[in-house]
Amino acid sequence: LSTVEVDVGQVAEGQSITVKWRGKPVFIRHRTPKEIDEAKSVPVAQLIDRDARNANLASDAEATDVNRSAPGKEAWLIMVGICTHLGCVPLGEQGNYDGWFCPCHGSQYDSAGRVRVGPAPENMHIPVYSFISDTTVRIG
Ligand code: FES
Repeated sequence: LSTVEVDVGQVAEGQSITVKWRGKPVFIRHRTPKEIDEAKSVPVAQLIDRDARNANLASDAEATDVNRSAPGKEAWLIMVGICTHLGCVPLGEQGNYDGWFCPCHGSQYDSAGRVRVGPAPENMHIPVYSFISDTTVRIG
């Protein structure tokens, strides 16, 4: 299917689900206030990849937390769960940045899905999506 609709109403704060979209895993994470604060506190200049990699924004949008999270719903992070190094699927709630750890070659991503330790060159990519109700998100 080119689009999927997902009800995230049962995904509690601190939980994630993974859905399939166009054959790829998409991570949907309901972030905690701590995870959001951590992501917001990082200056973009410190990031390995300063681009938001968000298909909903202009290609030159910066990788701020606001540009990575859902508009008006900053607790939600929705991204393609594929490591930008060689395509493994990173593991959630692991690594040193309250985010994801890639078991293949050790890349680490933060709580906004931004790469913080390589070899991955880019932040995990954010697909086109929108919330079509308070708890339903359409991806694609
Ligand atoms: Fe993730 Fe290499 S595929 S670090």
